[in-house]
Amino acid sequence: MKLIAAADYRDMSKKAAGIFLKQMEQKRQSVLGLATGGTVKGVYSELVELFLEGKISFAEAASFNLDEYFGMKKEDPNSYFSYMQEQFFSHTDFAGESNYIPDGTAADPIDECSRYDRLIEQSGGVDLQLLGIGENGHIGFNEPGTSFEIGTHLVGLTESTRQANARYFEVMEQVPKEAITMGIGTIMKSRKIVLLASGGKKAAAIEQLWYGKVTEDFPASVLKLHPDATIIADEEALSGV
Ligand code: GLP
Repeated sequence: MKLIAAADYRDMSKKAAGIFLKQMEQKRQSVLGLATGGTVKGVYSELVELFLEGKISFAEAASFNLDEYFGMKKEDPNSYFSYMQEQFFSHTDFAGESNYIPDGTAADPIDECSRYDRLIEQSGGVDLQLLGIGENGHIGFNEPGTSFEIGTHLVGLTESTRQANARYFEVMEQVPKEAITMGIGTIMKSRKIVLLASGGKKAAAIEQLWYGKVTEDFPASVLKLHPDATIIADEEALSGV
């Protein structure tokens, strides 16, 4: 696992966007694994800027998002579908059908999970996976205790994760209790992984990730077993390292 120190949020976002730029220069048909949350917004705006400057194109690329709230319609402003359209997809040249996100309204979620894993496999697999990190070390929505082997699956969200995400909703009752997420097994198949962390709230998680042991109780620790995983964290997130 490599660690890149960034000065601040902007620097972290620029450094991550630089890795995406390099990836797209090397392979125009790259399959990108994408994440949601506050941390990664800056990367998307940097990538949109690079696109507007004519320095990057996604016309031949495909993307797979990590997760989606279960029971949430695409059109809901809090869906990860809406987030991705707003932050990234609608401002770029991705081809219409090339952005995949788990279907939060699937009648049979188990079926939707295996369909999603099959689609990833058929695409040739994820070349570059972007990740944020939860304060409890979760990646995607893989909460502490999740098996490292598992593929895309339906999960119950912990109270702490619901509370961390409550800021996007009007009232706590609106925060979904379940989500469909790529599993850790799915994430680990990506050829390259970049995990971002910004701000003091993530300092304890980054400290544990860097110094702690590999354990299913701290999902992000699995990245230590990946041949090409990089953390990019800003000064505040790195205060314990
Ligand atoms: C959610 C997402 C994760 C993300 C995490 C951290 O739980 N499912 O993919 O990493 O939030 O979000 P933020 O970057 O807003 O702190």
